[in-house]
Amino acid sequence: MTKTPARLLILGTGTMARAHADEFKKIDGVDIVAAVDTDPDRLREFTREHDIRHEFTSLDAALEWNEFDAASNVTPDRIHHPTTMQLLAAGKHVLCEKPLADNYPHAAEMARAARQAGLVNMINLSYRNLASMQEARRIIENGDIGTVRHFEASYLQSWLAQPAWGDWRTDPTWLWRLSMKHGSLGVLGDVGIHILDYATHVTGQAPLGVSCRLKTFDKAPDGRIGEFVLDANDSFTMQLELRGGALGVIHATRFASGHLNDLHLRVWGDQGGLEVSLEHNVEHLRVCGSADLEKPVWRDIAFPPTDSIYQRFSGAVTDGVTAAPDFNRGAELQEILDLAMKSDRENGRFLLPG
Ligand SMILES: NC(=O)c1ccc[n+]([C@@H]2O[C@H](COP(=O)([O-])OP(=O)(O)OC[C@H]3O[C@@H](n4cnc5c(N)ncnc54)[C@H](O)[C@@H]3O)[C@@H](O)[C@H]2O)c1
Repeated sequence: MTKTPARLLILGTGTMARAHADEFKKIDGVDIVAAVDTDPDRLREFTREHDIRHEFTSLDAALEWNEFDAASNVTPDRIHHPTTMQLLAAGKHVLCEKPLADNYPHAAEMARAARQAGLVNMINLSYRNLASMQEARRIIENGDIGTVRHFEASYLQSWLAQPAWGDWRTDPTWLWRLSMKHGSLGVLGDVGIHILDYATHVTGQAPLGVSCRLKTFDKAPDGRIGEFVLDANDSFTMQLELRGGALGVIHATRFASGHLNDLHLRVWGDQGGLEVSLEHNVEHLRVCGSADLEKPVWRDIAFPPTDSIYQRFSGAVTDGVTAAPDFNRGAELQEILDLAMKSDRENGRFLLPG
């Protein structure tokens, strides 16, 4: 028996919404029926480009219309919490962009509301779509590198140093990411959440403790551009201890000249090492196993394809059962972000004399 496609609404029609529309359009079980944006010009351009039948300039208006089953929330970070709470209260399944919210209490509230309502809830941790990442997790789960002792992970971008994705000085899609008043947690919230998920999903260990330093660089006269106060962090370095006993470092920056959008993770166990990465949109996975440790020889590993989060969300809506990564996972990661910021605020650093 063929199932009726889920009627999907896209909330927020900026840069990332294009990826959502492109991916959902490829999936048989999904019909994108409507889009919402508070900016009418952007909304109109988006609905024309993607052939979407209904458009609304507020979520309230879309909810009054009510002819949809699920929503993809692709609004700026601080808008996720109020709009997702509204969607859940109206009985809609939600795929929400990362970070889940602007702080842990909000993220936990969203996870609780989704659980209580029995609705499908997923967070778009898009690097879960990488087959190499999922294979790396299986290798570690199998015990192929033994007990994990140490790791290093990085997320490297350079949009503050070059204009490949547009000029951050004039484009609002980048300016809100630089401003805490506009709800951004800086590079920590924007891509730190991805690399935290990448490292802890692959190692299969939950975090035990965190310490972190955040850095915001001077980038404009008086630290502002128009309404945007440029106070959000541009770089962070973090130490993370995992419950399985491993210790590691995680860092990210928007000033990694020579890297547009690259992720690296190196994990060392007592019987082998593993390296997984995305460089220039190409995935790599290699392992140095126990038989190769003394030489040492690293061998490339093949990885089978994996379903995307968009496919899993669509399947989850059809089946009525949430798939990973869910809001609980989003809230767990958000708690680390809050603690990382607290660590930066409260833990002193030791300055050298002079
Ligand atoms: N998963 C990923 O890899 C990934 C990649 C890029 C961005 N993102 C996330 O996607 C989200 C959107 O990022 P973006 O780069 O598309 O931002 P953007 O600024 O380009 O687009 C956001 C859109 O939301 C609209 N908007 C603002 N408030 C709204 C409201 N109350 N109701 C409806 N629309 C509203 C804005 O007008 C804008 O068009 C962010 O949370 C970001 O972190 C995720």
